[in-house]
Amino acid sequence: MRRVKTLGLLGTGVIGGGWAARALHFGIDVVAADVKPEMESWLCGAVANAEGALSRLTFAPLPRKGTLTFTTDLNAMASRADFIQENIPEQLELKQRMLAELSRHAPPDVVIASSTSGLMPSDLQRDMQAPERFLVAHPFNPVYLLPLVELVGGQKTSEQALDAADLFYTAIAMHPLKVRREVPGHLTDRLQEALWREILHLVNDGVATTGELDESIVYGPGLRWAAMGTNLIYHLAGGETGMRHMLRQFGPCLKWPWTKLEAPELTEELIDRMVEGTQEQAGGRSIRELERLRDDYLVAIQQVLRQYDIGAGATLRAVEERLYEEHAAAARDRATPGGAGLRLVETYVRPEWVDYNGHMTDSRYLQVFGDATDALFRSVGVDDAYRRSGRAFYTVESHVTHGTEAEALEPLYVLTRVLEVDEKRVHLFHALHRRHDEALVATGEQMYLHVDTNAGKASLMDSAVHAKLDAIRTTQTGLAPPAQQGRRVGMSRG
Ligand SMILES: NC(=O)c1ccc[n+]([C@@H]2O[C@H](COP(=O)([O-])OP(=O)(O)OC[C@H]3O[C@@H](n4cnc5c(N)ncnc54)[C@H](O)[C@@H]3O)[C@@H](O)[C@H]2O)c1
Repeated sequence: MRRVKTLGLLGTGVIGGGWAARALHFGIDVVAADVKPEMESWLCGAVANAEGALSRLTFAPLPRKGTLTFTTDLNAMASRADFIQENIPEQLELKQRMLAELSRHAPPDVVIASSTSGLMPSDLQRDMQAPERFLVAHPFNPVYLLPLVELVGGQKTSEQALDAADLFYTAIAMHPLKVRREVPGHLTDRLQEALWREILHLVNDGVATTGELDESIVYGPGLRWAAMGTNLIYHLAGGETGMRHMLRQFGPCLKWPWTKLEAPELTEELIDRMVEGTQEQAGGRSIRELERLRDDYLVAIQQVLRQYDIGAGATLRAVEERLYEEHAAAARDRATPGGAGLRLVETYVRPEWVDYNGHMTDSRYLQVFGDATDALFRSVGVDDAYRRSGRAFYTVESHVTHGTEAEALEPLYVLTRVLEVDEKRVHLFHALHRRHDEALVATGEQMYLHVDTNAGKASLMDSAVHAKLDAIRTTQTGLAPPAQQGRRVGMSRG
């Protein structure tokens, strides 16, 4: 199977748009096809809309953003893509027909995946050529922020296709969950449907409003679910004996039963109650407004979970570690000792980095200098394993000076110098340059202190780390001191 540089999309509605935003953000080019030409502007809007929240998800160094092209010609898309994701409406015959056509135009080593919410992969791959490269890859809305993707193979799906898909979705920061056996609705939608069916019954029977039922989740189980899920949470509910006690205590009510298995009839009255209930909950806020609110808290929740290395936060942490590692590896390949400093960062001004003047905004300078420091530290052995051993460098002082502006999309690089190093401290100097004219955009001077993170106090760095940092310092001693070194902020007098 191929290395994925270009993702092909068939269908660019809510889900296709979400896939486009996620793939582009993580450096994959996207060629998107839809029957309706007007979907092009909709798609661009959807991608731009997703960018706000996506850009806050992580500050790890990302690859250059992918480029987006749109076409109404399915064949043009199929011949350019290394991996194809189908996102057309949930109709079995339509999907079968379009997947068969796609498979005639896409080379056989191109994986084709369907976003179907519940159709069976064996049914979908029935008329395809090279059906072994087909699988279901079911995402969740908003695709650009939720990492879960269920991978389901059909009778003809090969292990290689499943593995290639696993690799691709991991590369775009997702959590692929391999479903062992195809079943209608896969895993998550079966669970969601069970809950939704009960909601419809309770509203239909006049027991509760949509708002009250949402409260019953939001203030309780919803908070637990983000990190642990129903089973582990129930294990805790059983006290010392865990799940066994839980089943003994609450198992009998499953037989009463509390809940109903048949969905209620969707009468006009029930539909009205559901619509009126949710409109009241929306309280006049538009769908766009509510989406922004949802996206903001989804980003914030994942960042909190990252601290606990759990659930979606563990995925985010693993993605960041990989991004920093890749960044440092590229820097190692590039960096040559001596010269005007180590060229540890090659980047560009991402569009979301600019302020209202159209220039790179203040906080991003520290981010770029931080990336240079990270790459330097990793190159001397201060990596994830080092930090896990309870040792790290903390920033104790930073001073940024600004030379000239950098505009959106401007290519940049950083030269880094080790000015001083002793057993506990490293004094660094970074110079950020525009690539097109070498102009000095900004400098960052920083002092780092080596810390025992368990004791919370300064400690001696590993002697090998110290030796490597000192060796870099030695190769740079012939360089003239930077003009900005030791500057302070203040107005010159007289
Ligand atoms: N909406 C969700 O929450 C969600 C979540 C997960 C999975 N899914 C699945 O994703 C798929 C798409 O759902 P959606 O909500 O994005 O639908 P949508 O209606 O928003 O988008 C479907 C798009 O497909 C296009 N289309 C229709 N026929 C086409 C064809 N023959 N060739 C090319 N394009 C065509 C339409 O013009 C439209 O833009 C469905 O299978 C759905 O079950 C949806």
